[in-house]
Amino acid sequence: MKISSLLTASVFALLTLGSAALAADVQVGIVLPTKDEPRWIQDQTRFEDALKTAGFSAEVLFSQGDSAREKTNVETLISKGIKVLVICPQDATAAAAAADAAKAAGVKVISYDRLIRDTAAIDYYVTFDSVQVGAAWGDYLISKAEGKGNNLYFYAGAASDNNAFLFFQGAWQELQPKIADGTFIVRNSDKAASFADKRDLTRDEQSQIIGQITTNWDSNVARSKAEANLTAVGPEAKGTVFIVGPNDGGSRAMADAFAVDKDVKTYYITGQDAEIASIQYIIDGKQSMTVLKDVRTLVNDAIAAAISFIDGKTPDKTMVYNNGAVDVPAKPTPIVTVTKENLKSAIIDSGYWSADKFTGL
Ligand code: BGC
Repeated sequence: MKISSLLTASVFALLTLGSAALAADVQVGIVLPTKDEPRWIQDQTRFEDALKTAGFSAEVLFSQGDSAREKTNVETLISKGIKVLVICPQDATAAAAAADAAKAAGVKVISYDRLIRDTAAIDYYVTFDSVQVGAAWGDYLISKAEGKGNNLYFYAGAASDNNAFLFFQGAWQELQPKIADGTFIVRNSDKAASFADKRDLTRDEQSQIIGQITTNWDSNVARSKAEANLTAVGPEAKGTVFIVGPNDGGSRAMADAFAVDKDVKTYYITGQDAEIASIQYIIDGKQSMTVLKDVRTLVNDAIAAAISFIDGKTPDKTMVYNNGAVDVPAKPTPIVTVTKENLKSAIIDSGYWSADKFTGL
């Protein structure tokens, strides 16, 4: 049997047998944050597809929203002899200890989608252009606003996720001039309103705002926060509303809350991840846009970077991201805004999701 067939066979074995697989077989360990969100199941599925031809053996483990379990997952993979760790942290700072342990064992560490913070143990960052995701939200909402005094509601992801800051930064840099000139009035964050004249916020200033508007990446929190915000304002803050929705799961939950408020006549809401349920919401006119972050590309980038490291080379970089300790090399992947208008070409014709998953296309 050729060595490549043996390796491919071991990928299959590992993916099906999981921890029963032989210790020495695993070259690349992949750690994802949770199975409970469709986004990370997308990554698992796309990894499994791509790994069939990757030419190395790999194992995928989930941390289930628990940094302690994440660390144990990393230790398990180290004990199986991995050469490269691909890790999407549950909590950016807590994951530093897991990265440090991998580094100490001679393993190359690739931060995947989310940046691990405050450690020098990260060799590479595989990511989308997350600032552009936020900018796409801002641009979309600005394109729908007319005149002055439009009602703006901001929401953000979990403060433990570095991406939440990058998404917010992108959105803020687009929207802030339009808050300053009165096009928008921020209705659910007095902190954001207080920085109306400042385009470039410090991390601490961003943190103060995110503290008020976070959904914690949890759709239940998102729904309750939207409901509480709507209860706290009068009808003058409703009518037509513009909502920075931070990801598809939370955006659908908030869209439902805004939709049932009798004083909300029209709402525009953003999202990201091109989840199947949100594509259906866009078709049905219940969510305005999503951002396609083509996970197939991210997975291929991660695999290419892992192969570079295994071959003793260095993956391509076009920029660096500072993680609080060091500048981490990266080559961010572009994103695509998806609305009702381009949904067919961006999602169906690109082969991202098949047409049979949707009704009313
Ligand atoms: C990812 C998003 C995801 C969110 C919640 C972010 O770090 O980039 O795609 O929706 O986490 O899991």
